[in-house]
Amino acid sequence: MTDIFSEDHARTLDAADPLRDFRDEFHIPRHGAGEQLYFCGNSLGLQPKAVRGALIDELDDWARLGVEGHFHGKHPWMPYHGFVRESLAACVGALPSEVVAMNSLSVNLHLLMVSFYRPTAQRHAILIEAGAFPSDRYAVESQIRFHGFDPKTSLIELEADEANGTISMEAIERVLAERGQEIALVLWPGVQYRTGQAFDLREIVRLAQAQGCTIGFDLAHAAGNLPLQLHDSGADFAAWCSYKYLNSGPGAIAGAFVHDRHADSRGRPRFAGWWGHDQATRFRMGPEFVPTPGADGWQLSNPPILALAPVRVSLDMFQRADMTQLRAKSEKLTGYLETLIRERLGDTLHIVTPSEPGRRGCQLSLRVVGGRERGRTLFEHLSSIGIIGDWREPDVIRISPAPLYNTYGDVFGFVQAVQHWRRG
Ligand SMILES: Cc1ncc(COP(=O)(O)O)c(C=O)c1O
Repeated sequence: MTDIFSEDHARTLDAADPLRDFRDEFHIPRHGAGEQLYFCGNSLGLQPKAVRGALIDELDDWARLGVEGHFHGKHPWMPYHGFVRESLAACVGALPSEVVAMNSLSVNLHLLMVSFYRPTAQRHAILIEAGAFPSDRYAVESQIRFHGFDPKTSLIELEADEANGTISMEAIERVLAERGQEIALVLWPGVQYRTGQAFDLREIVRLAQAQGCTIGFDLAHAAGNLPLQLHDSGADFAAWCSYKYLNSGPGAIAGAFVHDRHADSRGRPRFAGWWGHDQATRFRMGPEFVPTPGADGWQLSNPPILALAPVRVSLDMFQRADMTQLRAKSEKLTGYLETLIRERLGDTLHIVTPSEPGRRGCQLSLRVVGGRERGRTLFEHLSSIGIIGDWREPDVIRISPAPLYNTYGDVFGFVQAVQHWRRG
């Protein structure tokens, strides 16, 4: 047995990793003569090498076939969004008819809130976590105003109650018990972007529904990070982006989930566009909108094929790697990072993210001991030597080893670099 704090140990772990070959399917950004240690999959995942070919295929079909590419391309564009359906559903634990790849995350949240945030004089509030991602906060605030309510009284932001700024299930239960009758919608993260805390979705759904609230999830930091069981969770809706753990490229096409029990809800208000119209009759071009059943009925436009091609490539990789296997590696990889930090860097980095594997994904949020200035100095030093995490004000570095392409050697390299920096 090698010393777990040695580089040899990291090499042994990498050699035994059943997913190790996936790294070769990615472009790893260069740093000087070597490769970056890239820990920023929580922000932008790396590029699968196969994406270039997939884009060229579509460009070639467009050049070769023009409009006929809709029917006769290698991957015909007319049914194209259907090519990612099975893999998207598998990734988030949904029925194929419950998911659709469309738009971007904030757009999908708005479209879904149009249908699922239906405030009344008595039940008008939206519950989110305090310190939510700003775009989510802007979205819910603007929805509240749009419906003629005032965010001062209709936006409930649950404050963290745990030492590191995380939120206990008891706190969620309490706010729902106390104010549930005012709450029309709970919009909750699968993984909180700043702390890296993962939530038990099924339990949150249970608590919300017990109070008669509608419940939706923002899975920006959870999709491709944790195995999800969206259908079984019973959530009404969810949305996520594909540029983080799903490695589908900057601004990639996002995902949306609408639970099967709403599949045929024709009476439910929604914003409509022709691509959401019943597929069987869409091209009759009639004046009346008839939604196609399932999540597809929330589409507006015909999908941007060049933007969907990377999603197809990337989700195929997730299918091959399998979320359960990915999660098994992820727990080990992040656990290894945690152990090395606790044992070797306890005086420099304080881990904000919960320690229980069930309450986190890949990411560890690290508060730099000594405050903002010291934190910035460390962060800039790491970036300058090709170790890429990201910075969240006022003093947090987020480091996210992604099991598809990060290695135990990467983790070891990060810890070693901070040790060297500390010795100065
Ligand atoms: C939790 C969360 N919500 C919303 C967004 C905004 O996403 P988009 O710009 O794709 O709409 C992000 C982006 O990182 C995010 O992390």
